[in-house]
Order: sequence, then structure tokens, then C-alpha cells
Amino acid sequence: MVVCVCNAIREKDVRQAARAGYESPCQAYASMGRRARCGQCVPFAREIIASERASA
Ligand code: FES
Repeated sequence: MVVCVCNAIREKDVRQAARAGYESPCQAYASMGRRARCGQCVPFAREIIASERASA
């Protein structure tokens, strides 16, 4: 499932970044060489990161 339409970032990419230690959507996107544009995905990306870190 696509999390960020602007950057075509998928849920699995965000989870992978969270497991690699990136704590915020901005950091996670930066690790992929991308950055938030419209910002619409940020709350959802934050939730995904939080859930991934909680289950780590
Ligand atoms: S959907 Fe992620 S920045 Fe627009």
C-alpha cells in the first residue's frame, strides 16, 4: 500500500526505515533520498513508524 503519493513511498519502505532506527517521517523519507511535499501522509507515516517501533 502506498503511504506517500507524492514520493511513491510504500508502507513496507516506511516500516523498513523505522526498523533501521529512523524515528520520524522526515528522517525516514530522507533516508530514501526523498522529502515530504504536501505533508498529507505525515500523520499516517508517523503511525506506521510508531507501530513498527512498538513491535520491535
Ligand atoms: S503524500 Fe507524502 S508528501 Fe504528499
